[in-house]
Amino acid sequence: MTGERPPRVLVVGATGSIGRLVVTAAARHGLAVRALVRNVDRARPLLPDAEVVPGDLTDSDSLTAAVQDVDAVVFTHGSANGAYEEVDYGGVAGVLRALGDRRARITLMTSINVTRTEAGAYQGLMDWKRRSERLVRASGLPYTIVRPGWFDMTSPREDRLVLAQGDRGSGAVSREQVAEVLVQSLLSDTAVGRTFELFAVEGEPPADWAQLFATTAPDQRGSLDGAGDLAGPRWPRNHRASAGTSRRCRTADLDPHRPHHS
Ligand SMILES: NC(=O)c1ccc[n+]([C@@H]2O[C@H](COP(=O)([O-])OP(=O)(O)OC[C@H]3O[C@@H](n4cnc5c(N)ncnc54)[C@H](OP(=O)(O)O)[C@@H]3O)[C@@H](O)[C@H]2O)c1
Repeated sequence: MTGERPPRVLVVGATGSIGRLVVTAAARHGLAVRALVRNVDRARPLLPDAEVVPGDLTDSDSLTAAVQDVDAVVFTHGSANGAYEEVDYGGVAGVLRALGDRRARITLMTSINVTRTEAGAYQGLMDWKRRSERLVRASGLPYTIVRPGWFDMTSPREDRLVLAQGDRGSGAVSREQVAEVLVQSLLSDTAVGRTFELFAVEGEPPADWAQLFATTAPDQRGSLDGAGDLAGPRWPRNHRASAGTSRRCRTADLDPHRPHHS
């Protein structure tokens, strides 16, 4: 992200527990922050560092003004009422669609276990978040996908960050660490085209972010999955969106004229 004015980043889910920290971290790093919020009056005092704009992820018309002139988008949103298709997935589809031909940098936060098929009560959430990852990979935009471990289950001195791939590990990470990684991913070109899980372990904090991102493998060009993700069937046969997920990404959820990797 280069230019004469500070790059403008739209934070989606800006009033959330991660989103608020992303707003603060992005402003600290000199980015111009725009916060997408449902309730402007409630959000303004919470987000003094941001330009606050109204928008609801379930109302795609409300997203057009929010994406105007943005150089980057950080997605940190999440549905509190089980509206995974409409919010967790639909919000990503709506913002990507609203961006049109604008070549914004995208950072999407999802979760560890997003590729698992035995996630119990979380399966619906994980499946829709995984589909949102696929939309981002199919968009052709420069992206980073961050799958954090459990928020704030960390112990003192766990300042070292581990970026894992393949979604087989487990661990914790603080909300501040998640927010910093989301913002740093916009600032380092090495982060582009990568998907990784994020954990904190005992040790020193990162000194060189580009080097840290370079510890991961880039996603395979044209693939809808992250590097190291398990191959094979993704969705139960009777899942209503199981068939043609990748085709839907390209023809229904995104502008078909947008360039794709494949
Ligand atoms: N808990 C964990 O350990 C863990 C680990 C990894 C990943 N995650 C994932 O992290 C995600 C976010 O976590 P969080 O703690 O930051 O969530 P949160 O505090 O509940 O924040 C969710 C944000 O999404 C916004 N939002 C919800 N529906 C919206 C809509 N229709 N339009 C616009 N904005 C909408 C909320 O806005 P309002 O303020 O208007 O409601 C809020 O800003 C979750 O999806 C979760 O699955 C959690």
